[in-house]
Parts: sequence; C-alpha cells; structure tokens
Amino acid sequence: MTDVAIDAKALNKWFGEGEARTVALKDVSFQAKFGEMLMIVGPSGSGKTTLLSVISGVLRPDSGDVTVAGTDLWKQSGDTIAEFRLNRIGFVFQDYHLFPRLTTAENVAIPLILKRRDWDDAMSEALKYLDIVGLKKRAELPPVKLSGGEQQRVAIARAMVSQPDILIFDEPTASLDGDTGRAIIDFVAHQVLNDKRCIVIVTHDARIFDYADRVVHMEDGQLKSIDTGGAS
Ligand SMILES: Nc1ncnc2c1ncn2[C@@H]1O[C@H](COP(=O)(O)OP(=O)(O)OP(=O)(O)O)[C@@H](O)[C@H]1O
Ligand SMILES: [Mg+2]
Repeated sequence: MTDVAIDAKALNKWFGEGEARTVALKDVSFQAKFGEMLMIVGPSGSGKTTLLSVISGVLRPDSGDVTVAGTDLWKQSGDTIAEFRLNRIGFVFQDYHLFPRLTTAENVAIPLILKRRDWDDAMSEALKYLDIVGLKKRAELPPVKLSGGEQQRVAIARAMVSQPDILIFDEPTASLDGDTGRAIIDFVAHQVLNDKRCIVIVTHDARIFDYADRVVHMEDGQLKSIDTGGAS
C-alpha cells in the first residue's frame, strides 16, 4: 500500500458567477502521508474549509483530482463516495453538525450504526469515546443542552469512534480552553499517529502547532508556504 494518504492535484473551486464570482481554491496541490499530522493555517476566507470539503468528498472541485488512500475520489459515483467517506474518513465540521434530535451518545454512535454495528455495541463504543473527551456524564442529553466546547468535543468523538484512517478536522479546538484543546489533540495525535493514520487539521490555534509534522499556509485560495512543525 502507498504511504500517500491524500494526493490533491491542481484543485480549483469557485462560487457564483460574473461580478459575484469568488475563487475559493486556485490551483492547489499537496500531499499528506499516513503517519503524518498536517496543519493548515490562513486568514478567514482563504479557502481552508473549501479545501477540506473538496479532499473529503463533500464538495466537488471545478477542476483537479483528489486521490485518497489510492482512490481517485471524484471519479467515483455519489454512492461510492458516500460509502468511502463512511469507511475511511472522520470529519469534524467547523460548526459541528450534530443532530439535535439525537442524544449526545447517539450522535457519537452514528458512524457505527451506519456501518451496521449492533446497537448496544455501538453505544458502548460511543460511551468509551465520550469518556475520553470528558463527556460521559452528558451522554443522554441532546446537543442543545451542551456548551459550544462540549459540542465540539462530541463532534471529535464522533469522528474518531469508527477509527477511520483519514481524519479531517476543521478548527477542532476553536471553542475549547487551552488545556482542554491540547489534551484532546494530544489524545488524537497519539491514537492516530501510533496507528500510522493521517490527520489534516485546519486551525488558528497556535497552542497546538507543536503537534504538527508540517504547517501549511493558505492565502487567497492558494497554498503559500510549508513549514516544518515541532513534532518530528
Ligand atoms: N457555498 C458558498 N457560496 C459562495 N461562496 C462561498 C461558499 N463557501 C465559501 N465561499 C467563499 O469562498 C471563500 C473561501 O471560504 P472558506 O469557507 O473556504 O474560507 P475559510 O478559510 O475556511 O475561512 P474561515 O477561517 O472564516 O472559516 C470565501 O470568500 C467564502 O465567502
Ligand atoms: Mg472555515
């Protein structure tokens, strides 16, 4: 198997037409490897969320290719992409995307339920991950009863619960205090990197930069420069 987890080639994405046209990604190419934690930083509106959406099969690019774990993602059918996302990718959305009518534990268990795991088994696994992020006591509450930082931790637990080999996190520590943010990223880094999985994190949070193997800067829809991070 290849050690390249994500291979993005010449990605372009724009929104709107004419005067209203916004170029969100301009000829973006990069690779991320298995066993690597890559962080992407850049100003608001620079295209970070758009890039994460395109590399994880959420948003189709206008041109360019994305190969994830050897699969040419955007050449697949919609159903195949959905299946691939379920089996291979754990995603934390910038605005969490929790389901309001489900309990916290059910939200975390969703990926396992969709993968047809037995209900009790899925719920006990969900509780394990809720415990890790410090929220086991909140398991039966709906997300609306949780604080922003607690909801963010639920989203992280949900992305991790099925142990996908590609993790894509959009501002995962934005609502967390410094100690909690570092503790969560520390756990994620150990789990993911011990298993030689790959994680891409968009972040403004300088407190977690030293976990990165590489930090990539994004500006005006382009990747500008690549630093070596502190971890390796
Ligand atoms: N669905 C959309 N329709 C129209 N324009 C969009 C859409 N999504 C993003 N854009 C535009 O594309 C550009 C990049 O947006 P994106 O959300 O990727 O930025 P970002 O770097 O994630 O910003 P932030 O740090 O604020 O989250 C912005 O100018 C934004 O307004
Ligand atoms: Mg964003």
